[in-house]
Amino acid sequence: MLYLNIGDPNPFGFRPPEHILEAVFEAMRTNRNGYAPSDGIEEAVAAINRDMTSRGIGPIVHTWVGSGCSEVIDMALSALVNPGENVLTPSPGYPLYTALLAKLGADNRAYHLDEANGWQPDVEDIASLIDERTRAIVVINPNNPTGSVANVERLRKIVDLAIEHNLVIFADEIYDRLLFDGAQHVPLGSLDPRACVLSLCGLSKNWVLPGFRIGWGALSGPEELLRGYVHAIQQLGRARLSANHPEQYGIAPALEGPQDHLAEMIPQLVARRDAAMAKLASIPDITCVVPQGAFYAFPRIHRPVDDAAWCRDLMRETSVVTVPGSGFGQRESTQHFRIVLLPDVATIEEACDGIARFMAK
Ligand SMILES: Cc1ncc(COP(=O)(O)O)c(C=O)c1O
Repeated sequence: MLYLNIGDPNPFGFRPPEHILEAVFEAMRTNRNGYAPSDGIEEAVAAINRDMTSRGIGPIVHTWVGSGCSEVIDMALSALVNPGENVLTPSPGYPLYTALLAKLGADNRAYHLDEANGWQPDVEDIASLIDERTRAIVVINPNNPTGSVANVERLRKIVDLAIEHNLVIFADEIYDRLLFDGAQHVPLGSLDPRACVLSLCGLSKNWVLPGFRIGWGALSGPEELLRGYVHAIQQLGRARLSANHPEQYGIAPALEGPQDHLAEMIPQLVARRDAAMAKLASIPDITCVVPQGAFYAFPRIHRPVDDAAWCRDLMRETSVVTVPGSGFGQRESTQHFRIVLLPDVATIEEACDGIARFMAK
């Protein structure tokens, strides 16, 4: 099988920085293996706050560490949203949000990213979906599955809408250091101190450590608006005791230590992306917006197929494993699939050749 389906860099040969591993080994050896404070260890929270502040995010009201960014998102949605309320999520987007909203009995309202415009968020669509039961807008930037990086004008308009309607913005910026071609990432939490923004990040992607299960969130905005929300998040945090403890000693070294791994990783990702784009461009009836960050691409199939069946048949006939676009959301009557740009160039080319043969047939 040629696995182009998993957003995990480690099986493809990417390695986390050694100094982070050393810091965690040291914490384990010196028996910092008990429970952590439920918001996270002090030195990690302080490093997160320094990092966020240095990038203009603020004023920060509360920061906490979770077992993966996934847990932080789960806690933040659970503390905010009641059954029957709704949250606006990007389509296409990472499906965790949709799943959590289903669990909470809340309504997921998908807003479009505009494929004709480099998958930029469709701000008019966002505005049209807001009603009195809307609690939050999710922005994934850089985006999974499209690899697009949102431009600052769109982000400003989203911030204005959030302030006007008293909504929390979930700024999922877990890929914010994986940027190509000089793309600029603007943190949403840096745009307006009046906006309530939960800036989300973690060790999984930027530092190649998804197995550590360490993520964090920093909530910024007017303290008086956020007080009750923070209280609810902390109650949930105490109920689960703490996030993984020794791994938290990797957070400050990750944020403040050398970033040499990025200088190695990004050119490799760019070479893999370029190989995929060149091959896909030569396949009739397939187009693909060129990803500017993260490690995914979301090609479009311009044929009246069912994308789930297409991915299944592709896998059976060519051993190439992709994920159907319907798993991430897509505009009605369009068909896509997601590939990861993590395998080496030869594997990506072989997989794209398989896709070409399959389309020809
Ligand atoms: C956009 C996005 N947010 C959050 C996550 C989850 O991250 P974590 O491994 O920190 O739980 C992922 C994982 O793929 C993701 O793509």
